[in-house]
Amino acid sequence: MEIVKTIEQVRKVVSEAGMASREIGLVPTMGALHEGHFSLIKAAKKQCDFVAVSIFVNPTQFGPGEDLAKYPRPFDADVKACKELGVDIIFAPSDKEMYPEKNITWVNVEKLSEPLCGKSRPGHFRGVATVCAKLFNIVQPDVAFFGQKDAQQAVIIQRMVADLNMPMEIVVCPTVRQIDGLAMSSRNKYLNDKERKDAALLYAALQEAEMLIGAGVRKSSELVREMEKILKISKQIKVEYISIVNAQTLDEIDEVKGKVLIAIAAKLGSARLIDNIMLDVE
Ligand code: PAJ
Repeated sequence: MEIVKTIEQVRKVVSEAGMASREIGLVPTMGALHEGHFSLIKAAKKQCDFVAVSIFVNPTQFGPGEDLAKYPRPFDADVKACKELGVDIIFAPSDKEMYPEKNITWVNVEKLSEPLCGKSRPGHFRGVATVCAKLFNIVQPDVAFFGQKDAQQAVIIQRMVADLNMPMEIVVCPTVRQIDGLAMSSRNKYLNDKERKDAALLYAALQEAEMLIGAGVRKSSELVREMEKILKISKQIKVEYISIVNAQTLDEIDEVKGKVLIAIAAKLGSARLIDNIMLDVE
């Protein structure tokens, strides 16, 4: 496995791999790798002949006052995990390598970047779409792998690739959870023991909604009320949003029907957690 820090090097290694007409997979990450990331790498290994993992804590997707400075960066452990999983190359550029000058060219996926997390994190998805476009241009993968855990991000990247005719496929992999249902996240490290226990309520609320839909409930307002009740079991959970939206357009819906996304964002101590489920409702 090679670890490269420059755009020139990664281009050289990947283009050599591509010459052997191999399918190139890219797993973009911000490091602090966990089972969620590993599942994407495993999916890439299965589908592709050559797997690149990027590790870059992208400053342009963090707002002022967010956790950019304290975001975990256990680089050696990440390298070890990638090696064990059979990754071919890690691309770990510096901020200067990715943004040699103050960035003035942005990819803004309109409309889809506005609701849900877009409301409380203005500019976040512009930073995500821009860095992903840059990574796609640098690595030129045939396939890139994203997690359903960040559902809005996955929808936005798929739309960017379609709108800009990027010659690649986006694969979205299911959310990997801990035994109590908490979605794996690099930010779970910020939780203390009590908060960690309460964090499982996010998925419990989503499961309650799924159960109620199974029992015939269709009104979004009723589902949201029941999810709120579950989250209120913890005094520490500060709900940012509970939203039920069309899974493709991300428009709010009053009645669940077709492909729907039920998404929650909440603050728990210093951690901001998100989770979601996607359902196909008859
Ligand atoms: P990061 O949070 O490191 O996540 C990298 C990828 O792992 C994303 O596609 C995310 O959805 C996926 N992922 C995280 N937790 C997961 C889980 N529990 N189950 C399945 N997949 C999971 O998302 C980012 O980085 C950045 O925004 C990035 C796309 C790298 C752009 O900077």
